[in-house]
Amino acid sequence: PAPLPLIGRKAVVTAGPTHEPIDPVRFLGNRSSGLQGYAIAGALSRLGADVTLVSGPTSLEFPQGVHGARVETGEEMRSATYAALPADIVVCAAAVADWRVEHPTNSKIKKQAGQSPPVLTLVPNPDILAEISVVGPKRPRLVIGFAAETDDVEANAIAKRARKGCDWIVANDVSTGTNVMGGPENRAILISDAGVERWPLMLKDDLASRLAERIAKQFSDDAPS
Ligand code: C5P
Repeated sequence: PAPLPLIGRKAVVTAGPTHEPIDPVRFLGNRSSGLQGYAIAGALSRLGADVTLVSGPTSLEFPQGVHGARVETGEEMRSATYAALPADIVVCAAAVADWRVEHPTNSKIKKQAGQSPPVLTLVPNPDILAEISVVGPKRPRLVIGFAAETDDVEANAIAKRARKGCDWIVANDVSTGTNVMGGPENRAILISDAGVERWPLMLKDDLASRLAERIAKQFSDDAPS
């Protein structure tokens, strides 16, 4: 049988949402099931990669052969991702909350009759994908981000790739009615140096396998054995 193409390669995948505490019982979060990121972690592992999955809160089980960490917040996700470096491949599939509450309280905020609701001050979360993409000696060879868009998917994704500095962007159309969020299927556009590839609607598992194959091909093209 053909040897596994990603044997000896280290991959880190972020997946799922993050939860940013308001107080001990409340949080700000994102809609993300984690399905696509988990599927990518599994697919990379099946091609032989050593995969660390850094997962926000989800109800999913880690795929076979994949190790990693479960985290709650964007800052925890960032630390766990850096702890897993160096890596050859980083796939940021997580839906990190863009903001966190500046000063979460240690005790539950009480509702008090007649009082106005609390005002939350938000501060930006670290952008893990943009930080990892910064050029330097430790930069992973292939950094891949996701773009969930509702309008002008392709143009927005091309702009996002430039802004973040990552190598590839996998863009999906999450507009109402597509059933991508939480659903089993996804339609992706892969944006790289080579241009734009439009992939058909397929199961998230199949999209993950296809992406893992493309990653393996990139490494074999870069360094023919
Ligand atoms: O900026 P936006 O959230 O649309 O970008 C999405 C991409 O950036 C995804 O790959 C996501 O995992 C990554 N991201 C990140 N850290 C953030 C925000 C987004 O890694 N704080």
